[in-house]
Amino acid sequence: MVVVVVGGTGQTGTLLVEELRARGHEAVAAARSTGVDVISGGGLEQALAGADVVVDVLNTTEQEEAAATAFFRESSENVAAAARAAGVRHHVLLSIVGLEAASDLAYYRAKLAQEAAVKAGGVPYTIVRATQFHTFLAPLIRANSVDGEARLAPVNLQPIDLADLTTILADVVESEPASTASAGGTGGTVEVAGPEVLPLDEIGRRLAPDLKITSDGKPFFGANVPVNALVAGPGARLGTITLADWQAADGG
Ligand SMILES: NC(=O)c1ccc[n+]([C@@H]2O[C@H](COP(=O)([O-])OP(=O)(O)OC[C@H]3O[C@@H](n4cnc5c(N)ncnc54)[C@H](OP(=O)(O)O)[C@@H]3O)[C@@H](O)[C@H]2O)c1
Repeated sequence: MVVVVVGGTGQTGTLLVEELRARGHEAVAAARSTGVDVISGGGLEQALAGADVVVDVLNTTEQEEAAATAFFRESSENVAAAARAAGVRHHVLLSIVGLEAASDLAYYRAKLAQEAAVKAGGVPYTIVRATQFHTFLAPLIRANSVDGEARLAPVNLQPIDLADLTTILADVVESEPASTASAGGTGGTVEVAGPEVLPLDEIGRRLAPDLKITSDGKPFFGANVPVNALVAGPGARLGTITLADWQAADGG
């Protein structure tokens, strides 16, 4: 089938395009660097012409809440409108586990606006909510460190490897949209997580042995996040690659 991956040049998108091509699909990466701008709409209609499925793995560098929300809402509205016009039959969106429980995080409120725009977009959809990527963890810990000490929040994570995530995303592409009644009553959203739940301070000790790590209640990125808000619920699809596996392979 023809699959357009918007954000297909990013860290998730690049691996997903490779995986889809390896499975025999015609996968097209759409991003500004390939001539498609999901905000201005430039190149979007042409990119989606003839597509069966569109996968949204876009991200924004906007830090401010209003700008991030505008990016996610407008990009989803524009992708859905172009997908409707092109007769695309499945809109897949990559989102994050725990958006409601951790909605003290401004980025998560922006992702909720993105999900709402996909749900209202008029194209059958699957929202894939994933946990934190292995690649995200060291930057998170470093961002919380000052003078050789990282004071981390007392939260549990269930990190996923990008290889597992892109395998599951490709499986979703090959499945019926979860929003349709025949898909088994998931209500349009599926969760994806790694094989183990780990406290953030333990992750910190493993990935940043040079830092003094504490877990003394400092909020997560300045927001309050309940201890298990970012852990997947029952029924999540689980990857198999552990943090130790990823460290051994990538030197992370
Ligand atoms: N990091 C985590 O732990 C985590 C966990 C769960 C879910 N997620 C979600 O995963 C998604 C993908 O993240 P990622 O880290 O793979 O993204 P990324 O590497 O930052 O890639 C972002 C992609 O979006 C494209 N893009 C940005 N603005 C665009 C525009 N105006 N028009 C067209 N393309 C545009 C970029 O290409 P150009 O710059 O060339 O346009 C790039 O291909 C995000 O939505 C994030 O919320 C992340």
